[in-house]
Formats: sequence, structure tokens, C-alpha cells
Amino acid sequence: MVSPLKKSSERTLVGKTLANCVRSISFKHVVPADLQELKQALSGLSAEEILIAIAKRFGAGAVFSTSFGAEDQVLTQMIRSLTPTTGIFALDTGRHFEETYYTMAMTVSRYGPIDTFSPEAADIENLLKKKGPLSFYESVENRKECCFLRKVKPLQRALIGKSCWISGIRREQSPSRNSFDIAEWDEDHQLIKVYPLLEWTTEEIWNYIKEKEIPYNELHDRNFPSIGCAPCTRAIKPGEALRAGRWWWEQSDQECGLHVTTIRSLEKPANPS
Ligand code: ADX
Ligand code: SF4
Repeated sequence: MVSPLKKSSERTLVGKTLANCVRSISFKHVVPADLQELKQALSGLSAEEILIAIAKRFGAGAVFSTSFGAEDQVLTQMIRSLTPTTGIFALDTGRHFEETYYTMAMTVSRYGPIDTFSPEAADIENLLKKKGPLSFYESVENRKECCFLRKVKPLQRALIGKSCWISGIRREQSPSRNSFDIAEWDEDHQLIKVYPLLEWTTEEIWNYIKEKEIPYNELHDRNFPSIGCAPCTRAIKPGEALRAGRWWWEQSDQECGLHVTTIRSLEKPANPS
């Protein structure tokens, strides 16, 4: 698939890679000895039971990140009704769809305030000055640079002082996510990650949303099962994979860097090289 930018002949090469930025973060390979025990304790529990167990174990050290997608709306409903000590935050990239901001407004109105983390103004000013507003279409490297500045860096700030990060990832979403464990060690942020909806199907998500009358992003009704930033997300066609509309012009891992440096198993540590 070609880049949405028309003038492919004008594509630029970038000397400094984002991978280098990411690799400069220290890799300590310190996996807490009780990760295995936590995984066992959580296995077989319902999503609600997992959230309660996490709140008991980590207290205010547990935090949930929401993109206001369908899965995250389910978790917001559960967290605000069952585990009020668990914080909720969103990363506002500044490039979300208008529909996502409406969903954010409806969510705040129903469930109360949600912390929001924005990119550093200087990072975005420099990026736009150097490469313009659509550099992400020019190369995977440029795209990951934009994701790094607009998502990964703000995420690092959001997770300061936290020991457990809850996320709405599900196995069904992609082949790589199919191999996730219910609880994992996040090497970059030195904390435990937990996915209470890992085993949920799309049908279960929507049944729950309908049953509880949870507000959701109306783009989901227009064939957007996975919603990221507006310039980097399109509707999927019948038969396409759930994440086919994310960075659709790329032949890449179609991940933005939020969920890539995780140790899935004690036997197979991540290789940072
Ligand atoms: S992404 O890495 O491709 O962008 P995806 O949209 O599938 O992620 O969402 C997976 C999980 O990542 C969400 O359930 C949420 O926990 C987290 N996440 C993704 N985007 C954001 C965001 N903008 N703000 C906060 N959390 C997010
Ligand atoms: Fe930038 Fe696109 Fe990544 Fe959003 S998804 S941060 S616009 S490259």
C-alpha cells in the first residue's frame, strides 16, 4: 500500500532513528519474582474480579489508560463502579478524531474527570518546523517518531510513580496480541501490565456496552473497530483484520510503541538489541 502522500518521489530519509531513542532507555531485565504468582492468582477470574484484585494489591499504584475505544469504555464503567482507587488517564495526541473528543466529553460527563496527558509543546513545534504536519506518511521511521512524541513520551509521564498499568488489549485484536499474558512485565516503565479483557470477544464487548448503555465512539458504527489518530486510521472493509485500518499504508508491525517492550514470559526475556 502506498503512502497517502502523493509525491512519493519527495520522500525523505531520516538519519536519526526512533529505535535509537527507544533503545537509549535502560533495559534492566528486572522481572519481579511474584509475576508468575500474580498471573496464577488472576487466571480464571472475571474482568471485574481482576480489577478488584489489582486494586487490592496495588492500591493507588494501579492506573488504567483509555483511548475511549469500545474495550476502554467497558473498563471505565467497571473501574468507576468497582475500584475508585484506580486512576484513569488518556493520552491526547492532538490528532484524534472529532468523534473521539465527543466520546471523551460524554465519558467525563458520565464517569467524572479523567487525567489527560499531552505532548510537550516544544516537541511538536520542532517536529512541525522540521518535517511538517504529515511526516508520518513519509516513512515508518517518521511515523514512529510522531507516535513517540505524541504518545510514548506522554505515557512515560503518566506512569511516573505507578506500579501497575491496566490496558484494554484483547487477544482477538491481532496475531501479536494473541500471545499476550494476563499479566506481564513492562521493561520500559518497570511495572506490571494487566489486561482484564484479554479473553473477551468483540461480541461480549458490545453486549456489555449495550446492556449498561455505555457511551461509545460513533466511529465504531462506521466500520472503525480500532480507533487511533485521525490521519492514521481508516474504516476497514468486509473481511479485513480488526487493526487493518491503523497505519494502513505501512507494511509494519502496526504498533505505535505503547505496547512493545513487554516481557511476556520469564523464560523468554525481550531482546533490546
Ligand atoms: S495502539 O497502541 O494501537 O494505539 P490500541 O488503540 O489498540 O493501541 O489500544 C490498546 C490499548 O492501549 C487501549 O486499551 C489503551 O489502554 C491504550 N491506549 C491506546 N491509545 C491510547 C491513548 N490515546 N490514551 C491512553 N491509552 C491508550
Ligand atoms: Fe502521529 Fe499518527 Fe502516531 Fe498519531 S498515530 S501519534 S498522528 S503517527
